[in-house]
Amino acid sequence: MDGTAAVSFDEASLSQLAATADRATRRNLIVSLRRMADSLEDTTGTIHKFAHLDLERAMIQIGYDLKIFKILVDAGGVKTAEDLAKDTGADPELIKRIMRYYNTINVTREVGPYQYVATNTTKNLVSDVCKAAMGHFWDLVSKEYQALPAFLKKNGYRNPTDETDTALMMGWDTREPPFQIMLKVPNAMEDFHQYMALRRDATLSWLSVYPVRQETAGLTDPARPLYVNVGGGIGHQCAEFRAQYPDIPGRVINQDLPDTVALGVKAEGVEHMTHDFFQPQPVQGAKFYYMRGVPHDHPPHKVRILFKQIRDAMAPDSVLLVDETVLPATGVSHIAACVDLTMMGIASMERTEAEWRALAEGAGLELARTYTYNALENETVMEMKLARNEKTIPNL
Ligand SMILES: C[S@@+](CC[C@H](N)C(=O)[O-])C[C@H]1O[C@@H](n2cnc3c(N)ncnc32)[C@H](O)[C@@H]1O
Repeated sequence: MDGTAAVSFDEASLSQLAATADRATRRNLIVSLRRMADSLEDTTGTIHKFAHLDLERAMIQIGYDLKIFKILVDAGGVKTAEDLAKDTGADPELIKRIMRYYNTINVTREVGPYQYVATNTTKNLVSDVCKAAMGHFWDLVSKEYQALPAFLKKNGYRNPTDETDTALMMGWDTREPPFQIMLKVPNAMEDFHQYMALRRDATLSWLSVYPVRQETAGLTDPARPLYVNVGGGIGHQCAEFRAQYPDIPGRVINQDLPDTVALGVKAEGVEHMTHDFFQPQPVQGAKFYYMRGVPHDHPPHKVRILFKQIRDAMAPDSVLLVDETVLPATGVSHIAACVDLTMMGIASMERTEAEWRALAEGAGLELARTYTYNALENETVMEMKLARNEKTIPNL
């Protein structure tokens, strides 16, 4: 035996295990296999794993631009380099170079000389949520990542909390806030909101765990605001709420900035309202104020203002529902750690339960209960109520 290909690895039985496994088992399997692969790596492997990360992302973008992934998935079988050249208008020699690279990162599979088929990854890449997310990260966020080392060096490696001076701003060479930058980048707004609307399967929602019926029993006034989604994007969650609870009396209101409200979905029983959430909340006494992925965009001093504006509008039986990642003390997932560092580029962060509790208390609220609906991504809806002890309400 010469030492090459001495061990045969049973990929087939692993695939079989993966095919029948649930989401959590599949995720654990990926983590274990990656850890195993990394432990086997020599220096050459480490160099070429990290050195070409930017290339990997650039090549995916080219695949989107040429529609290679969609062409392969729609074909449902083998496409040759000549076919792809005809379909895309690109030079066949260029197609061959792109496709042999994709084969090495499992984005597509080579099944013969210059013959290719789609893989699981190709299929994922053509989904609407993947396209929107990749557009968002490539067109907008990638400049933040590029700027992050220089930004942290410049600020002396302090944990960024100043939203007027961020890595995203440095990357874009501007002092404008993220949603203003987005307005200037073609398709950035549409991609972002599409990604927000589609990023979770409908079953992975706060509505799957929160006792809405129990909390609304006894409500009879159709004029009272029932559910106000603050920074609700295009209103997709309001539409879901109304569809699931058409009979609960009360108004369902989506609030966001004007350019986002302009993209709002039309759904029966959903009102759209322009509102800047750092200003006084115009809807008083709603049963539920709700935010998903909103405070995580902001540093602590801004979250306090955001919470306080809602607190000031709350009736004694109002509930503020904060739907966010709640980081565990150890073993944070790769995805949550990546999102946290992405938030760092806009002077914000993902938070632990203790950090959320402190923010609530700092705004005169108490964190009453938490309901985790997506344990894999640590997604939890936190129920906040007016603090019982008035003395805890600070002067903001
Ligand atoms: C991360 S997105 C979350 C969207 C939505 N809640 C979801 O989970 O799909 C943050 C939202 O906050 C909105 N936003 C940002 N600044 C705002 C402000 N000052 N007032 C109101 N909405 C704002 C953005 O337009 C965006 O829709």
